[in-house]
Amino acid sequence: MRDAEEKGGLLSGKTMMVTGASSGIGAAAARLFAEEGAAVVLMARRESRLRELAEEINASGGKALASPGDVTDRDDVDRVVNEAVRTYGSLNGAFNNAGWATAGTPLHQTDDAVFLQALDVNLRGVWNCLKSQITVMLESGTGGAIVNTASVAGVLATGATAPYIAAKHAVIGLTRAAADEYGQQGIRVNALVVGSTRTEMIANVLEEMPPLEEAFTNRSLQRRMAEPVEVAQAAAWLCSDRASFVTGAAVPVDGGWTAA
Ligand SMILES: NC(=O)c1ccc[n+]([C@@H]2O[C@H](COP(=O)([O-])OP(=O)(O)OC[C@H]3O[C@@H](n4cnc5c(N)ncnc54)[C@H](OP(=O)(O)O)[C@@H]3O)[C@@H](O)[C@H]2O)c1
Repeated sequence: MRDAEEKGGLLSGKTMMVTGASSGIGAAAARLFAEEGAAVVLMARRESRLRELAEEINASGGKALASPGDVTDRDDVDRVVNEAVRTYGSLNGAFNNAGWATAGTPLHQTDDAVFLQALDVNLRGVWNCLKSQITVMLESGTGGAIVNTASVAGVLATGATAPYIAAKHAVIGLTRAAADEYGQQGIRVNALVVGSTRTEMIANVLEEMPPLEEAFTNRSLQRRMAEPVEVAQAAAWLCSDRASFVTGAAVPVDGGWTAA
């Protein structure tokens, strides 16, 4: 990994915060961003997983800091952002990827608690992160690049639960609003429209509703689900200077799900 930094990896010299880094897409992004030369600050609630991942990255020559916390808690998010700046001197980018989904029940039978949790983790989590990250990026005066994880459920009624669909649509709205407000201060904000990806979240949903596997696979034009690193690759590019004129975008990484 040291090689990647010396040779000028995609994210060389940058400090990147990754939420939802304890598994799935976030863990893949943490490894990839570090391989591409970034110092990574890892946030999620499962502390032992984060520490193991940070140790793995540091042992292979990268730079990683485990900073456990809950994205729904403003103080936790502020603490992680401040820790990033204190440890590595700046915060240049973030992948706001923590999310929560559950298998579906019809809207009228869905508990209010499910509605609140879906909005809390998927939307308020991104809100908390944006507020805190943009504050330090403005203070530094050097701009930044933020990527928020939305979903195909952020642009279509995919059959996921109504609260999840509503929350992911809102993530795209928040992304556009932030890109608009801070475009002239050098802060780019984009969203990923993620299709079905083999992670714990999908495994949990499929455990409850196995027939969904075929639907998840068939909606992709490639007739397969993504591996987490394929989503992480798009996030790395959007966070890098090579995406310098891309902002306010909802970028599909969905095997063509939303194309046909
Ligand atoms: N997999 C898919 O097919 C798919 C499709 C479209 C969009 N997405 C989106 O992709 C993102 C990543 O999900 P994944 O598929 O990689 O699933 P995953 O493996 O279940 O990862 C979810 C991550 O979010 C973290 N998280 C959940 N609640 C949190 C909280 N309150 N505070 C901090 N971290 C929290 C989890 O860590 P802890 O439990 O340790 O906190 C975990 O690291 C999510 O936003 C999801 O909605 C996934």
